[in-house]
Amino acid sequence: MLIKTRNLTKIYPHNDGAVHAINNLSFDIPKGSFVTVTGASGSGKTTLLLILGGLLHPSSGTMVYNGKALNMQKDDVMANFRSNHVGFVMQSFALISYLTAVENIMIALNVRNKNKAEARKQAIELLDWVGLNDRINHYPKELSAGQQQRVAIARALANSPDLLLADEPTGNLDPGLSEEILGILKVINENHNTTVIMVTHSPIAASFGNITISLENGQIKTNNQSKYEEIFQLTH
Ligand SMILES: Nc1ncnc2c1ncn2[C@@H]1O[C@H](COP(=O)(O)OP(=O)(O)O)[C@@H](O)[C@H]1O
Ligand SMILES: [Mg+2]
Repeated sequence: MLIKTRNLTKIYPHNDGAVHAINNLSFDIPKGSFVTVTGASGSGKTTLLLILGGLLHPSSGTMVYNGKALNMQKDDVMANFRSNHVGFVMQSFALISYLTAVENIMIALNVRNKNKAEARKQAIELLDWVGLNDRINHYPKELSAGQQQRVAIARALANSPDLLLADEPTGNLDPGLSEEILGILKVINENHNTTVIMVTHSPIAASFGNITISLENGQIKTNNQSKYEEIFQLTH
């Protein structure tokens, strides 16, 4: 198993009352899966993704990645985990507006201590791979939404992640562009054996996955549970 969670819980403290965003989630994700996470707004999808990507500590419960428990680790351990294993793709692309496409990817590569020429060469290869070799020196505002999301995907691949996390990556795209982006994620999953976990509202997007985690109030939706237990052979 690439990921095992047991009784994962996240409570956000708040003056108006604590929010149980994630409530006792236990599941296993085999390496190489394409997991889709669905559920209404506020059901805990983003919170779950942030915990799985090592950006947020759970309040309780465990998350084990490749046999290593990651909860309660120090910030530098989590930072290493992210830079060695995880790529993130966000709905809003999160590109740096004053950097060109190639530069946006180079900064992700430079974290790995490459020299500039080498980083540029690799960044161009990544842009080429997502079909943007003619947009290398364009700024984000000079790119269409679909092209910006491709740059964001290329950037997410910069550290050769074995886990790619995508939070509503097609949320800002029309149906045609969405399918293109989903197709790219599918190829990454199938050709590189990268485990993909994608949050989505769209049933079409959800059908791209081979495992679905359906959330309701931070818990796995009950009508989903029997199928889910079958897949993961969970023992409660
Ligand atoms: N930083 C926070 N502080 C307090 N409550 C939060 C915070 N982030 C999210 N929440 C609450 O946690 C719940 C789950 O949020 P989220 O994981 O963003 O859901 P989703 O991505 O499914 O829309 C929501 O009720 C939200 O209001
Ligand atoms: Mg969300």
